[in-house]
Amino acid sequence: MQHRGVTVWFTGLSGAGKTTISGAIAEILQQKQCKLEILDGDIVRENLTKGLGFSKADRDENIRRIGFVAHLLTRNGVIVLVSAISPYREIRQEVRGKIGDFVEVYVNAPLTVCEDRDVKGLYKKARAGEIKGFTGIDDPYEAPTNPEIECNTDQEDLSESIAKVMQKLAELGYIS
Ligand code: PPS
Ligand code: ADP
Ligand code: MG
Repeated sequence: MQHRGVTVWFTGLSGAGKTTISGAIAEILQQKQCKLEILDGDIVRENLTKGLGFSKADRDENIRRIGFVAHLLTRNGVIVLVSAISPYREIRQEVRGKIGDFVEVYVNAPLTVCEDRDVKGLYKKARAGEIKGFTGIDDPYEAPTNPEIECNTDQEDLSESIAKVMQKLAELGYIS
């Protein structure tokens, strides 16, 4: 498959489906011999942004560093799949402006659904007060106002979410 460098940025609440969808897209693109990288918040926070917490300043710093690496890769022709909550609109816009070839995917599921899924048991801890400043519970999430793609993961299954992303990447000329 022919491709151009692009950052596909998955934003959304914890448990909305960022890691699942980006991982599935990565598998498909890998099979088609595309050059790609995944920058997932949970992984990045163990190395590139180790030591950062979840204050606004630390989240913004996390996103800036991820954006910097994504930019380097993107301009070298790599498809970069970023999955990070990235709750603040302004920093997402900043990163978009720097990278240019940027496709925002709003992975959208209601908080109640994410909390019911509670993939890692973090919502339970947040409700119990064991984790402070948890996104959606006692920390903000600013939804994208004009994302290229919105995946409503409470209403569509994984294959539909994948298809939306693949179709938009083709439509925008990043894959063919
Ligand atoms: S951010 O806001 O973009 O800097 O966050 P990110 O780098 O994506 O990291 C989110 C993952 O960290 C875990 N976690 C928390 N999330 C939100 N709020 C708080 N306080 C928190 N503490 C730990 C959680 O596993 C997130 O991963 P996902 O995949 O979203 O569940
Ligand atoms: P995040 O990385 O945003 O925290 P995860 O990908 O870890 O979210 O978890 C999402 C959960 O929602 C998984 O258990 C996944 O199986 C489920 N899910 C249900 N429908 C979808 C969908 N359409 N897309 C992605 N995940 C979905
Ligand atoms: Mg995840």
